[in-house]
Amino acid sequence: MLQPFGTTGVFVMLRRFRHGNYHTCCTRIDIMPVWEYPPLRAQHLTNDTHNLFSMLRIGLLGCGNIGHIIAQHRGSFAITAVYDKVFEQAKGIATVSNAEAYEEFENFISADIDIVVEAASIGAVKRFAGDVLSRKKDLVIMSVGALADPEFLEEIRMAAVKSGRKIYLPSGAIFGLDNLKIGRISPIDKLLLRATKSPQSLGIDAKTDRKLLFCGKANECIKAFPKNVNISVAMSLAAGRDADVELWVDPTVDRNVHELFIGGAFGETYIRITNVPSPDNPATSYLAALSVLSLLDDLENPIAVGT
Ligand SMILES: NC(=O)c1ccc[n+]([C@@H]2O[C@H](COP(=O)([O-])OP(=O)(O)OC[C@H]3O[C@@H](n4cnc5c(N)ncnc54)[C@H](O)[C@@H]3O)[C@@H](O)[C@H]2O)c1
Repeated sequence: MLQPFGTTGVFVMLRRFRHGNYHTCCTRIDIMPVWEYPPLRAQHLTNDTHNLFSMLRIGLLGCGNIGHIIAQHRGSFAITAVYDKVFEQAKGIATVSNAEAYEEFENFISADIDIVVEAASIGAVKRFAGDVLSRKKDLVIMSVGALADPEFLEEIRMAAVKSGRKIYLPSGAIFGLDNLKIGRISPIDKLLLRATKSPQSLGIDAKTDRKLLFCGKANECIKAFPKNVNISVAMSLAAGRDADVELWVDPTVDRNVHELFIGGAFGETYIRITNVPSPDNPATSYLAALSVLSLLDDLENPIAVGT
């Protein structure tokens, strides 16, 4: 949007953010009196210029498998800054996405970004989430397992409230997270995730037989398998109660299988998802990366589909 500013012929270009705030993007001083200046409107900008000013600007925290898939599929958003504890990883994504790679988190978070997408690790969420929010950026968290710690969850919830920003948790590697939220209105009595994974996906010896590795609550399972059961924590957060988890290793499966057993006053449901592992990281399902892309796409969409 172009906005006349006083009568001195100074124009200030403003960019409107989703939260209704305006940010100054650039200034332009013109010697013509303002009343002689032709009316300038967004439609006078070229498509390219318009896109540049209206696109969501993403800062990518974690430049591994999911980061690469996000970078390859960008379209409705621009990746402007990237950060990884391994600088080479960040540089790799910066090349693909025309972003700036940062070696220091402080410089990364000071860059021109609207929202940070974390695709790194539980440790990264614990270390950086508070800073992201206090610097008034929205935050997408992939390593949802970090929120299994109730104290940390409350801490970042309060940080989000204080800064007026939002934390988004994508549906990740499952279907059905949306309607699990009814559990906060009408209690869900049965909430079980049965995950069956290949030894490679779990990073264990391939010669093992099929066996049950864990049976218990999501917030305990994530401590033992921090890279493999993020979705069980997302299920708990959605439903408002701790999910039960069975984690199986099975050398005969070449896909990660997620089965959800859910029951309550609404009725019952069973969902079975056979996830294609991501080519570069068998622990991560391709669906998880796609779910971040659809979340980012939805942020700018005036019509919200699903709960
Ligand atoms: N919510 C879900 O359904 C879901 C599904 C799949 C993966 N995940 C999680 O998403 C995260 C990313 O997955 P991925 O497959 O891209 O992993 P990956 O191992 O391929 O990439 C992670 C990248 O983050 C970097 N990193 C790790 N810790 C960091 C830190 N403290 N600071 C900066 N950089 C750091 C690593 O160097 C690496 O480049 C993982 O935590 C994974 O468990 C969640």
